[in-house]
Amino acid sequence: MRVVPTSDVLEVATDSVEGTRALARAIAAVVEAGDVFVLGGELGAGKTAFTQGLGAALGVTGRIVSPTFTIERIHQGRFRLHHLDVYRLDRIHEALDLDLDEALDDGDVAVIEWGESIAGVLGRDHLFVGIGLGAGDDDRTITLAVHGPSWERRLAGLARIVDAVGPRQVDSTC
Ligand SMILES: Nc1ncnc2c1ncn2[C@@H]1O[C@H](COP(=O)(O)OP(=O)(O)OP(=O)(O)O)[C@@H](O)[C@H]1O
Ligand SMILES: [Mg+2]
Repeated sequence: MRVVPTSDVLEVATDSVEGTRALARAIAAVVEAGDVFVLGGELGAGKTAFTQGLGAALGVTGRIVSPTFTIERIHQGRFRLHHLDVYRLDRIHEALDLDLDEALDDGDVAVIEWGESIAGVLGRDHLFVGIGLGAGDDDRTITLAVHGPSWERRLAGLARIVDAVGPRQVDSTC
């Protein structure tokens, strides 16, 4: 997992796919129009599982699966939810051709798997969600890092959510 250079980092452990979805469902309570989630973590870490929880809590009724054969899937819930996967590097350009910026300005929400590469180019406030593998098959350490004022404002709320979901530590050293 990539180290995020910010002091505004929360960490929480989950030990099941349902635990990761539950964390995402809880985070959905603080989602606002125009939000961007950048998801990191290796193949099979749980990025899509996180998106499923987030989408469900935002009222998406259709099935959320990895956008493997298409750059983006759009779901309708409380917000229009753009689900992108930019695993392949050539997808970065495809992703940047999607007028995502305009959609976000219009109040849509985006979740970008493997999104670290385009987060800087997008240049928008975002929540980085890094999912690291743990000791057991189902263990994950989920790092939440706020980037930009709109997420910094919600850090305390996020900390309360994380507290309610599982054990956490605030790491101010990285
Ligand atoms: N604690 C956990 N959190 C999330 N997923 C878990 C956990 N424990 C086990 N899993 C399993 O790990 C897999 C995660 O798959 P998922 O498609 O969400 O990963 P991904 O990060 O999106 O992968 P990809 O990079 O291929 O898109 C699922 O099979 C899920 O059941
Ligand atoms: Mg995925």
